[in-house]
Amino acid sequence: MRIEELKVIVTGGASGMGRTFSLELAAAGAQVVAADVNTDALTEITKASDGAVFGVECNVADEASVASLFEVAYKHMGSVNGLINNAGIIRDGLLIKKDRDTGEISNLSMKKWQQVIDVNLTGPFLCAREFATMAARHEVGPACMINISSISRKGNVGQTNYSAAKAGLVAMTKLWSQELSRYGIRTGAIAPGPVDTPILLQMPEKARAGLSRMVPLGRFADPKEVYTAVKFIFENDFFTGRCLELDGGMNI
Ligand SMILES: NC(=O)c1ccc[n+]([C@@H]2O[C@H](COP(=O)([O-])OP(=O)(O)OC[C@H]3O[C@@H](n4cnc5c(N)ncnc54)[C@H](O)[C@@H]3O)[C@@H](O)[C@H]2O)c1
Repeated sequence: MRIEELKVIVTGGASGMGRTFSLELAAAGAQVVAADVNTDALTEITKASDGAVFGVECNVADEASVASLFEVAYKHMGSVNGLINNAGIIRDGLLIKKDRDTGEISNLSMKKWQQVIDVNLTGPFLCAREFATMAARHEVGPACMINISSISRKGNVGQTNYSAAKAGLVAMTKLWSQELSRYGIRTGAIAPGPVDTPILLQMPEKARAGLSRMVPLGRFADPKEVYTAVKFIFENDFFTGRCLELDGGMNI
């Protein structure tokens, strides 16, 4: 697919990597809808792109909100043939933790588990289902969906919820390539290592510095480096069902 032919929805498209994807795709000639819960950031990206990026408020974990997003996007762009499942959150914690002084055992709450599963796994499921339905119903023709996974999909300490969601996302990428190719839909996943975005600011400074030392290249990725992987998947019509690892050589 050529980028100029894309009519694409970017979830979590108002901040971090999603913001970069939205702006770069719009600059390359794609029609772009950025979907996000952060309405201030949506207003900002619309301004920053001179209206080229159209912002739609959407909670990807909510079925009705996703259905409405696709309706609005379809009307705005005249079709939808691209999707980037990018919205994601972290709510880290060990499965169990023993307090050194009291010996008391705390655990990863059901709330933290569910929040991450809802946004990072149910969200992509709902968006992919709507995307595929629309593509099949309107015979959209070549279409492509990209899922943003993570190096943590291999199982990262303190991220039971996040690792499970990101591993599930890669599994769905593979099986959707098999289920959806008959409708002209390709899929792809990207598993980045640490990328320089606001999500990492939730980590203490010291932990962030330690994390960058774990990357053989000695630094975090720039969101634009992840965009080059997005561009590759959209443009290469023989790519489907696979996960690109973009982690500076880091191993978990
Ligand atoms: N930054 C990293 O190091 C890194 C590494 C690997 C994978 N990732 C993944 O990349 C994706 C983008 O992360 P980022 O680093 O740009 O983070 P970010 O926090 O900067 O951006 C995430 C965006 O998702 C939006 N969002 C959150 N919940 C939402 C919901 N329910 N519905 C719609 N939008 C929602 C946020 O408002 C925000 O704009 C995430 O899926 C993340 O897990 C990030």
